[in-house]
Amino acid sequence: MKCFSMFSKEKSKSKKRESRSAPELRNQSKSDNPLSRTTRSMPSPRSIPEMYKEKEHNLRVFSLEELKDATNGFNRTFKIGEGGFGSVYKGTIRPLNGGGDPIVVAVKRLNTHGLQGHKEWLAEIQFLGVVSHPNLVKLLGYCSVDGERGIQRLLVYEFMPNRSLENHLFNTTSTLPWRTRLEIMLGAAQGLAYLHQGLEVKVIYRDFKSSNVLLDENFRPKLSDFGLAREGPTGDRTHVSTAVVGTYGYAAPEYVETGHLTIQSDIWTFGVVLYEILTGRRTIERNRPTSEQKLLDWVKQFPPDSRRFSMIIDPRVRGNYSLSAAQKVGKLANSCLNKNAKERPTMSQVVESLKQVIQESEEASSSAYKPASTSSTRKSVGRRSNKV
Ligand SMILES: Nc1ncnc2c1ncn2[C@@H]1O[C@H](COP(=O)(O)OP(=O)(O)OP(=O)(O)O)[C@@H](O)[C@H]1O
Ligand SMILES: [Mg+2]
Repeated sequence: MKCFSMFSKEKSKSKKRESRSAPELRNQSKSDNPLSRTTRSMPSPRSIPEMYKEKEHNLRVFSLEELKDATNGFNRTFKIGEGGFGSVYKGTIRPLNGGGDPIVVAVKRLNTHGLQGHKEWLAEIQFLGVVSHPNLVKLLGYCSVDGERGIQRLLVYEFMPNRSLENHLFNTTSTLPWRTRLEIMLGAAQGLAYLHQGLEVKVIYRDFKSSNVLLDENFRPKLSDFGLAREGPTGDRTHVSTAVVGTYGYAAPEYVETGHLTIQSDIWTFGVVLYEILTGRRTIERNRPTSEQKLLDWVKQFPPDSRRFSMIIDPRVRGNYSLSAAQKVGKLANSCLNKNAKERPTMSQVVESLKQVIQESEEASSSAYKPASTSSTRKSVGRRSNKV
């Protein structure tokens, strides 16, 4: 999926000799650094680069040769995905101590156009080097080479066998069961809540979308791609001013209009993804009739309280989901999509709401499947045709 960006592309100075370097931004002023603070007037918690210094030893530094070996020379049969920033390959690496089973990894090789690719690569390393949460992808290490033939920037992640949420939601050969969808919503919300509220600094993720929600062997979600993440505002500030970057169809309207990035911009985007999960449709689908091309405009015609709401539910789960749970998710999505950013819920409120939806669904399904059900209970189950 294409990103939109107003970043200027800067030419990198390639070094004479090939060298592997530690991740740092070179030739850039502090104000250009995506990780630099926008305000220093108040005594503030440590910044991400400061926190990273303490933890950098946890990341492994790979040579290009190691990663070439891991991916059979970046063979295209090993390629598992491609995004705006580069290609992703499946590979295997040896454990650090040399013993034990090989480790399956995903290697992302960035298209480094000048310093821009380097900037995202660096942000990814510093953010992922600092965070630790079951719903965030684990970065194992990185590779950086500045050679006569250009610069190489790579990232090595734990491999996620079920790839991304996008691969399942919009792929006709895959159907995510309703229950799995709810669990994915909750896990992704927990990852985002941790970024917003669980660290010394607030982190604005900025690139929440279904292709960045990766799925492990049990379909547990993990957020990936921190290249566009930013430290949130500190002190009295309410926003961070940035160039507008992100992905069409996902970004909050006030952010697109003003470039003012807030924690609430992520919450809007979370609402967009909730609707993608409910409907199985992309945020923009050009091949649909005009009234259905923009997901958010289309779903407005089917309010969660109305009887027509069920018409927008992904046909692949119809007859196999809980309408009342879906309506609650629809209402939650609408609150995230409030035009007034201040009225959007916080991520921890979103997490609580989703936990409640899941609990209610569980209770409803366990009472529906009681073995000693009477005929009247059976009738009520029949009436609720959209059960979990
Ligand atoms: N750790 C991983 N394990 C397994 N597959 C992965 C992993 N990381 C990425 N992928 C796959 O590679 C695809 C491309 O990822 P990438 O982050 O480069 O681009 P994207 O998210 O699709 O788009 P964009 O560049 O606009 O963010 C993902 O959609 C996913 O299918
Ligand atoms: Mg991605």
